[in-house]
Amino acid sequence: MSDGQAQWSAVDDYITDLLVGPDPALDAALEANARAGLPAIDVSPAQGKLLHLLARSIDARQILEIGTLGGYSTIWLARALPADGRLITLEYSPVHAQVAASNIARAGLDKIVEIRQGRALDTLPRVADDIDEPFDLVFIDADKPSNADYFKWALRLTRPRGVIIVDNVVRGGRVLEADSDDAAVQGTRRFNEVLAAETRVSATEIQTVGSKGHDGFALAVVLEA
Ligand code: SAH
Ligand code: DHB
Ligand code: MG
Repeated sequence: MSDGQAQWSAVDDYITDLLVGPDPALDAALEANARAGLPAIDVSPAQGKLLHLLARSIDARQILEIGTLGGYSTIWLARALPADGRLITLEYSPVHAQVAASNIARAGLDKIVEIRQGRALDTLPRVADDIDEPFDLVFIDADKPSNADYFKWALRLTRPRGVIIVDNVVRGGRVLEADSDDAAVQGTRRFNEVLAAETRVSATEIQTVGSKGHDGFALAVVLEA
């Protein structure tokens, strides 16, 4: 087999069969998303499980997600929470939010997950007012031009030793294109500069290949003051 997308996908399928396996609620969510015409831009199964494991490893009790789509990543993250945990997920599209609500209810997580529909930059101030304790983990996966702003919000709302994850920071290597006229690339580059300059976190970025192509994510840990 030659290197490239076919091989990345085949290896991702192999890993997923080994370590994730069939999962009725997650599989049903992806089927419902496809039926509703949502784009298949959810995290991969292996990346979903990584989010879940990261949340579990820090005993997360409160999670914020920006960019719900059909709730695939939401379900992975919410399953890491205790029964009295809380996940707030922000979604602009009313259609996506509705599909997500049904997928999340089917997964039995509607007591833990709250979907707030609207532009995240408009709904974040209210989230900040509503929470009693800061978030343990924030997953940023919405419109890329806003990533620097979302990161600033996440930093404000996350506890020391909490984790901020930002999806899609590589995008097939296009992140290198300083003169790109793609707003997503420019948004990612601006986010990367903010991340690099931010002394209140320690961060890295990891490139990924797999069923979703060549991409990557940023991982930042909030430092103690
Ligand atoms: N986290 C999801 C994928 C999210 S796709 C998963 O892995 O399963 C990105 C989502 O962000 C889309 O549903 C899109 O409608 C939403 N979005 C785009 N702009 C937004 C904004 N300004 N505020 C909130 N959500 C937004
Ligand atoms: C897109 C968005 C995502 O969050 C992703 O993981 C892949 C693609 C997009 O907008 O094209
Ligand atoms: Mg993404």
